[in-house]
Amino acid sequence: MSTENDLDHYTQTMMPSWGRPLAAFERGEGSRVWDVDGVEYLDFLGGIAVNVLGHAHPVFVDAVSRQAATLAHVSNYFTTPPQLALVDRLLRLSGGDRVFLANSGTEANEAALKLAKLTGRPRILALEKAFHGRSTGALALTGKPALREPFEPLLGGIEHLELSIEALEAAIGDDVAALIVEPIQGEAGVIPLPEGYLRAARELTQKHGALLIVDEIQTGAGRTGAWFAFQHEGIEPDAMTLAKGIGGGFPIGALVTFHGAGDLFRPGQHGTTFGGNALASAVADAVLGEVENAGLVENAAARGAELAQRVLALGSPLVTGVRGRGLLLGIELAAPVANEIRAAAHRHGLIVNAPADDVVRLAPALNIGDEELAVFLERFGAALAEVAATAPAPAADATHAATGTTASTPTPTGAPA
Ligand SMILES: Cc1ncc(COP(=O)(O)O)c(C=O)c1O
Repeated sequence: MSTENDLDHYTQTMMPSWGRPLAAFERGEGSRVWDVDGVEYLDFLGGIAVNVLGHAHPVFVDAVSRQAATLAHVSNYFTTPPQLALVDRLLRLSGGDRVFLANSGTEANEAALKLAKLTGRPRILALEKAFHGRSTGALALTGKPALREPFEPLLGGIEHLELSIEALEAAIGDDVAALIVEPIQGEAGVIPLPEGYLRAARELTQKHGALLIVDEIQTGAGRTGAWFAFQHEGIEPDAMTLAKGIGGGFPIGALVTFHGAGDLFRPGQHGTTFGGNALASAVADAVLGEVENAGLVENAAARGAELAQRVLALGSPLVTGVRGRGLLLGIELAAPVANEIRAAAHRHGLIVNAPADDVVRLAPALNIGDEELAVFLERFGAALAEVAATAPAPAADATHAATGTTASTPTPTGAPA
């Protein structure tokens, strides 16, 4: 086993839809992972906002092993105690009234899309730059032209709006079935909705009888310092989609509905073989139970604010700000060097990613503490210094150093004060 052999093996045998992997990992523990050559990394990407408990957490391991040894799958002709326990927990935490269980975020959004279709109205509104998945339905909701174009024509009736309340006011009408939004656009580069957008969206959708669907696939499960990001705004949507963090690494997705919206489905109108099976349900219920019992939603809020401040305090001329909320953060850069920083971080034993040319994303486990933060800052600081030494000088007004504002560290955009 060696990294180069494994990466060659992958590229020769897997479809080239992803490109060559960046590493071959063998095992993990907490926020650490080791590659097949035994090299250790600090994981601050968390499988893209998935591993809320980190790697190989005893609660996760116990839930998988115990349920696998008890009952894994019986089909959706039947229910099981873990399925009912998970559904009860999701409803209690969210305030929703019905759940559909799926296997991924894409499938949760497909279910939401079919729900919207059942209103009988012809138009669905989504946002520019949105990411909702890659099946043809979820891709039709996705607002990234480069991802859509090879597969067009996609499902019709979907419009992508500019990210402003004015654009929503202008577009919405009584013929709109639903508006779907991410509270923070993770794949677009950790872009929070503008201040007041979600509240305005709630009022406008209510006024026109349209469904408000929030895609909390990346923001849910406590990541932003609330169980679900819509809860920061004091509103309730009609539907919410979940995946990623709720399984802590086990594949699962969910559509949660509110105010009776889920009753639009009639028996036989939607289904999936695996969705909500006993194994996935038991694991998700245990993962969310640990997030709850260990106070990890509060930890995400506190550690996220601390992390944002301390990244700014590194004083790198490449860093112009930090946006996002809780432990979903985007480090804003003065130049399009996000991929260089990601690669340098990797060489220094740190995993982060670059969702846009000028943004580095952090989405670590929600149980990080002092030690993980210290190691992150040391390794990330080294990566920044390495890239700053080779990158072309950023525009004079784009950096704290150049403008002399490093002394007064700015508040991270969208982070709790
Ligand atoms: C906001 C959002 N919606 C949907 C998806 C698709 O989820 P999945 O990859 O589990 O199908 C993602 C994945 O990154 C996402 O971030």
